[in-house]
This record gives sequence, C-alpha cells and structure tokens, in this order.
Amino acid sequence: MNFHVMTLFPELIEDTAKSSIIGRAVGSGIISVNAVNIRDYSKDSKHHHVDDYPYGGGAGMLMEAQPVYDCFKAVTEEIGHPVRCVYMTPQGRVFNQEMAKEFAKEEDIIFLCGHYEGIDERALELIVTDQVSIGDYVLTGGELPALVLIDAISRMVPGVLGEGSADVESFEDNLLEYPQYTRPEVFMDRKVPEILLSGHHKNIEKWRREKRLERTLENRPDLLEKAPLTKEDRKYLSQLLKAKEQEQE
Ligand code: 6GU
Repeated sequence: MNFHVMTLFPELIEDTAKSSIIGRAVGSGIISVNAVNIRDYSKDSKHHHVDDYPYGGGAGMLMEAQPVYDCFKAVTEEIGHPVRCVYMTPQGRVFNQEMAKEFAKEEDIIFLCGHYEGIDERALELIVTDQVSIGDYVLTGGELPALVLIDAISRMVPGVLGEGSADVESFEDNLLEYPQYTRPEVFMDRKVPEILLSGHHKNIEKWRREKRLERTLENRPDLLEKAPLTKEDRKYLSQLLKAKEQEQE
C-alpha cells in the first residue's frame, strides 16, 4: 500500500514514518510513505508563497487553490489510476477502526494536509473524495492527523503486524482491552492478580472478559450499546451498576 502525503512539512511525515512498526513495514516494502511538498508547486519563483488573504475578510491566511491542485495533478499522474484523496480537517467525518479497515483495501491513498485557516474551497471541490477528522479538538495542521491515519491503516495491511497478533482484532467487538502483567510477580508491593497464575484457562478467560466489561463501563459506556453482549455479560454489568449505586448511597 502506498501513502502519498501532500503537505507543507514533508520532513514531519518522513521522519515519523521511519520509526517503529511503520518504519519496519516501509523497510520491508509492504507499505511506502511518499511526502510531497506543496510549496514545490508554487508559481511564485522568488518566495514560493502558497497562501493569501481570504475574500470577504476574516482572520488568517488561506492556502491557494493553484499549488494544491498542481501538486495533486503531479501525484495522480505518477500513480496512474483513480485514487482517493483524503483531506484532513476538523470538519470531516470522525475517524474510527471501521474506516481504517476500509482504507486498508486501497492500493494508494493521497492525504491532503492543510495549514493556516484552511484551503481555497475550489481546490477541495476539484480533488477531495473524503474529509476526515481525528476528533473534536483543533490542531494547527493536518500532518499529525495524517500520521494517525497512516498508523491505524497500516496495521490493518496484511504482514505489517506479526502474524497471529491478537491485536489485529482489537476494538472489533467494541470492548476495551483487559489489563496485562509480566514478570516480576510483585512490583512495589503490588501482586499480579492470583487468577492469572492459576493455570485455569476457563477462569482466566472469564476474569478477562469481566475486566473488559468493567473498563468499558467506566471509560466508554457509549461503546456498550454497539458491543455484542452475552446474557452473562449483561448480568455482570447489572451487578457492576448495582454496586456503583450502593457506593453512592
Ligand atoms: Cl484532521 N485537522 C486539524 N487541523 N485539526 C483536527 C483534525 C484534523 N482532527 C481533529 N482536529
């Protein structure tokens, strides 16, 4: 899978894509990350400016349509087939695991990263197929969000994670993960939960399920509505809720 990132800060993308699991996947050729500098397509030979004041007034500067459009043309000509162009913006659809899986089916994706107060709407109309946000807060540019998507999408591409990694299925069932422990058995007077040392696989499985339900109820109760819950799960959850009510009394 090939990620193409249109940006004013290519080094931010390139440096990050060198590290960790993404770096290894790039090294082994499973994915590629190609940062393209929008400034290289400025028609202003002296200062290479790519921004201007907004018509109608208002705060800040806008990225001009022309360098963004010409950059896109150059990237798509190189790719040679139709490709999704994802504009990173807080106005977009909020990214989630399902979208990561969908994007992972593409052979190429272009990310468009904005800066300043945004991009001339005509460039967006001409080239953008998807608008994506990473959450309800405002960042200074689209580069960190694009890297978030590259990370989440890459780990859905076959071969990027170690095979048999249980993590592949993480979030699949809309429950948070259970807590985990490794050696030593005691750290700062805190013991590993006894049940994990018991060797009773059935009991361990039950304990882990309960911890997942506890965590999801505590931190992300909204997920429980979408989670496929068994009769046992519901019983445990109602016990938790009852215990919580009694605490409050
Ligand atoms: Cl995709 N861009 C910016 N600038 N801010 C954001 C965002 C994207 N998602 C959340 N906040």
